Amino acid sequence: MSNIPTYWDYLRLDRLLDLQGGLEGDDSQLLADELHFIVVHQSFELWFKLLLRELRLARDHLGQPKVDEETIPHVVQHLRRINAVLRHAVNQFEVMETLTPQGFLDFRDKLVPSSGFQSFQMREVEILMGLEDADRIQYGNIDPIRHLHEVAHDTPAGRLATSRIAAVRAERTVLSVLNEWLYRTPIQGSTPGDPGDDRAVEDFLGSYLARMSDHHAANLTRLLDTLEVSDPEGMRTKFASIQEDAKTFLHASDTPEPARPRTRRIRAAALFIESYRQLPLLSWPRLLLDLVVEMEEQLVLWRHRHVRMVERTIGRRVGTGGSGGVDYLEQTGSYRVFRDLWVIRTLLLPTSRLPELTDPTFYAFNST
Ligand code: HEM
Repeated sequence: MSNIPTYWDYLRLDRLLDLQGGLEGDDSQLLADELHFIVVHQSFELWFKLLLRELRLARDHLGQPKVDEETIPHVVQHLRRINAVLRHAVNQFEVMETLTPQGFLDFRDKLVPSSGFQSFQMREVEILMGLEDADRIQYGNIDPIRHLHEVAHDTPAGRLATSRIAAVRAERTVLSVLNEWLYRTPIQGSTPGDPGDDRAVEDFLGSYLARMSDHHAANLTRLLDTLEVSDPEGMRTKFASIQEDAKTFLHASDTPEPARPRTRRIRAAALFIESYRQLPLLSWPRLLLDLVVEMEEQLVLWRHRHVRMVERTIGRRVGTGGSGGVDYLEQTGSYRVFRDLWVIRTLLLPTSRLPELTDPTFYAFNST
């Protein structure tokens, strides 16, 4: 009889529903607002748990030494779930906002110095995606990761926080496997290791930049012919600097040697996939890149939504975690992990202006 599953045993509801007692260890002692506060935070942490599992699965599929055509749909499926969860998490702040500023003040002081700042699962998400330590916003002298280690007491959750952060820091990131995969992507039918691959990449970039220059020239002429531009010279300079930036980015002149050729190939591959999206063999890779951009967009939206909710609830006071609150959180809205993919959005050309493909049949499905 005991092996017959029930809903409550399967979901461990006895344990789950006993975990909202807060510092008192008994939710009947808590104000309704505090119970709400705990349930909303725990729901977020459960979504973070799912995000971490899905991110690792996406990373592992994409991180194989050779990623078959059949594998990409798996990566896409994990990314779709990640994005659905993130979208849902963004909307979930609506529930948090039913807490009034004074309702929060009625129990806020006892939380000090704990804070979402100590959400180790959120830090794991950031690290797993590929956010670099150097790119983290420091608040005053508070480093978000060092802070976690400093405040972690010798409790089960404290030990979990420090061990999980140490473990995720040793893992491969989604950014690194994405770059590995992009690096191996055939460009105009040429793959790293093929004789003349460097030449093929250079030729593609050269012809792309030439097409881009023609496109910019046409746009500039149209603007100058149709608008009363007060500073035509300034407009010309602006277009010239956009073209120059594109050249620097695509040739990876901003990357020091010896990494430059590799970065150049990664960027060229991302541009190639995004440009020739109609080719059968590139349709799944293109969807994958789109979902990675969407994932980052959703995380940025999460940060924006969180900080507006925070401002509405506590104004601009110092956070329970000791940061400058809204001032600090607003800066974290600038985090970008997949920067190259964002830059490439600026460089795309209309299909009619793209350089010709040297061998379109190369990108037909293998099975055809
Ligand atoms: C009344 C509701 C909330 C308020 C007033 C609030 C306030 C704050 C403040 C002021 C910070 C900055 C650190 C500090 O000094 O404390 C922060 C960070 C954070 N909060 Fe919230 N928060 C609320 C709800 C939530 C919820 C529901 C989540 C979901 C998990 C969350 C997750 C986080 C995370 C992950 C950070 C770290 C952000 C970063 O450093 O990039 N917060 N929160």
